[in-house]
Amino acid sequence: MPLVVIVGCQWGDEGKGKVIDFLSHDADMVARYQGGNNAGHTVIVEGRKIILHLIPSGILHEGRRCLIGNGVVVDPHALVEEIKKLETAGVDVRSRLLVSETAHLIMPYHRKLDQMMEARRGANKIGTTGRGIGCAYADKVARHGIRMLTLRDKDKFAKKVKDFSPFYQHLFQSYGEDPWSVDDVVEEVWQVRDDILPLLVDSVTVINDELNGGGKVLAEGAQGVLLDVDFGTYPFVTSSSPSPGGVCTGLGISPRQVSKVVGVMKAYSTRVGAGPFVTELDNALGAQIREWGGEYGSTTGRSRRCGWFDCVPLRRSLQIGGITNLALMKLDVLDNLDEIKVCTHYLVDGKREDLLPFGLDDADDVQPIYVNFPGWKTNLSKMRNFDDFPKEAKDYVLALEGYLNAHIDFISVGPDRKETIFRNGELFKKD
Ligand code: GDP
Ligand code: IMO
Ligand code: MG
Repeated sequence: MPLVVIVGCQWGDEGKGKVIDFLSHDADMVARYQGGNNAGHTVIVEGRKIILHLIPSGILHEGRRCLIGNGVVVDPHALVEEIKKLETAGVDVRSRLLVSETAHLIMPYHRKLDQMMEARRGANKIGTTGRGIGCAYADKVARHGIRMLTLRDKDKFAKKVKDFSPFYQHLFQSYGEDPWSVDDVVEEVWQVRDDILPLLVDSVTVINDELNGGGKVLAEGAQGVLLDVDFGTYPFVTSSSPSPGGVCTGLGISPRQVSKVVGVMKAYSTRVGAGPFVTELDNALGAQIREWGGEYGSTTGRSRRCGWFDCVPLRRSLQIGGITNLALMKLDVLDNLDEIKVCTHYLVDGKREDLLPFGLDDADDVQPIYVNFPGWKTNLSKMRNFDDFPKEAKDYVLALEGYLNAHIDFISVGPDRKETIFRNGELFKKD
């Protein structure tokens, strides 16, 4: 009963979309377990670029069933827009996409409140994607969220919106915003309700039946462990659990079902939004890496902050994720550098730290300790065998394995499916 989890090991945008796409080839089902349309997973197939925000990246493989799990928060308009975009691109979606009836809705007022709160935070803003993610999860936990299954009955749906409305009207008023009308909100959601209704399922039964029937399932993580609400650089995090713990609650499966966890990491670091970033290159070199790597947000278009590979938070992600297989992405982006640095540990107030300390603050005295590597100055993108790599590139990869005490099974040297080096192809084999 193999279930393989794909999880980002940094601050998101590691290249999970590409990994899920190439692993989907061997899977029967791909399921998202958390997050929402804050994600942007890019897949490039034969030169065509497709960015998925909510729908699992496996949808680009014919015949794969795709599931949006109960742990995801769903903006109904964003979902229907994405379905239509894929259909325009010739992808058959509706016969293969299933949406959990117990996933929570991102309501129009969540989106607005997210943006209002960010504006009020001023210099302390988190840099959210403004999609209402945190507000929808907050309502879920506060027990006044609305689940997809309520879309089956307009009166029940309208009653819930009406019941929660005074709480929101009060909030909007305190932010100096105009009140909103319950009828307008209901009608706005109802515009897309008929598109969504046929997709709703008891997702817990669907996924457990798939696994118990011998199906191979990929669990697609969004964001990354360092953005996890429990384990990330709080409060500069998202509001869900991207780390593999989120798979069980976000899909309704037992931890006993998880056979492998693939950790995805870039050959350098990026983050979009605010928060501590010890190896950040806030200079011309960082801007150069941004250009080479095309490091602009797939969801918001914002410039991503760039910096050197940092083993210290990575060790934390490996610890939390129980990663069995690592994928190293975008190694080609470093092709032209004369020298490459890797941060192996920090000195925090003079004390050596190998693992990311929780509660790291911008105000702390943190010194990254670097090891320098000579660049390989070779175009890696045409290479398909690790043995063909120049010595400098091999040394860089082997050194990362040594610092992290983990094996790198996939190396990506370009955005296309084909630009991948497989050092272990048997992911679904249970050992
Ligand atoms: P995700 O959110 O983790 O799926 O990552 P994003 O899609 O937000 O960002 C990764 C970007 O890097 C996308 O534009 C990918 O097409 C691109 N990409 C993925 N792997 C590689 C690679 O090995 N080399 C290069 N140059 N680009 C890559
Ligand atoms: P993928 O799946 C990178 C970041 C935002 C912000 C913080 C909180 O493509 O890797 P939110 O809107 O979630 O409340 O924002 O999290 N963030 C991401 N950064 N990749 C993502 O997704 C992200 N999703 C959210 O920039 O710092
Ligand atoms: Mg992304």
